[in-house]
Amino acid sequence: MKDKHARPFVAATFAMTVDGKITTKNLTPVDFTSREDKLHLFRQRALADAVLIGHTSLKRDNVRLSLPAELQQARIRRKQTPAPLRVIVSNKGRIDSELKIFQSASSPILVFSTMQMPRKTQAALGKKAILHLAESDDVDLGEMLRILRSQYRVRKVACEGGPTLFRSLLERGLVDQLNLTIAPYMFGGTKAPTLTGLSKEFLPASVHCRLIDMRIVGEECFLTYRIKHRRRWNQTAPGDADAARVRPRSLDK
Ligand SMILES: NC(=O)c1ccc[n+]([C@@H]2O[C@H](COP(=O)([O-])OP(=O)(O)OC[C@H]3O[C@@H](n4cnc5c(N)ncnc54)[C@H](OP(=O)(O)O)[C@@H]3O)[C@@H](O)[C@H]2O)c1
Repeated sequence: MKDKHARPFVAATFAMTVDGKITTKNLTPVDFTSREDKLHLFRQRALADAVLIGHTSLKRDNVRLSLPAELQQARIRRKQTPAPLRVIVSNKGRIDSELKIFQSASSPILVFSTMQMPRKTQAALGKKAILHLAESDDVDLGEMLRILRSQYRVRKVACEGGPTLFRSLLERGLVDQLNLTIAPYMFGGTKAPTLTGLSKEFLPASVHCRLIDMRIVGEECFLTYRIKHRRRWNQTAPGDADAARVRPRSLDK
């Protein structure tokens, strides 16, 4: 019998500076990685059945989330669709139907949002995408992943950020792999988001990142981590030396 609670494997791909920034404070598109990194992002996308993006990244970067022809051909040879499904997440649903993604027919687009989406937007997007609108204020990311698996047969998701969405997934224990490129720059500034966004809060539980692959190309380092979600901080058992070692100091007070 099929497990109706099963979710797809989730692999996130990010590039960050040496000081942990994924963009600058204005969230304007910054091109701080090499051609090799861009190819790396495409290759990760090509391995997935669906590519997932948060509304702010979609809006700021105005990406189509499609694939170069040779990667589409490789997927066809593997008996896959030419490109992964494209999945957009937004709570408020104020998504501009003129964004480039909606002008490209490379693969179906799914929008997971809520009934907060204005009626006019529902009508405009409904012509270009499949809408999943929840009654709740926020999209339930776990439920979204289960729907992707059960209704769209998605086994692997490539999450392309941004950090707010990534952090939400991490907080819910929904990330399995992180592909991280370290680019040879520092941006500085507390207002420029890190990989887990701008929140001053600790994650609710420690996240262990086990390095499974490392590659250096030019001045960039390509890291692959397997993510293990651990117990919540306040559930750390006494004598759990491993967890205690990574417990943030301020939580010990
Ligand atoms: N360096 C990199 O590798 C990399 C990768 C990706 C993005 N970026 C950069 O990251 C910046 C944007 O990041 P960001 O953190 O501000 O935005 P984001 O994560 O792309 O998007 C945040 C938005 O996504 C929706 N969202 C997030 N979590 C959700 C949840 N649990 N349920 C439902 N909707 C959710 C909300 O949309 P609504 O507001 O519509 O409700 C939220 O405002 C951009 O500048 C982009 O260039 C960098």
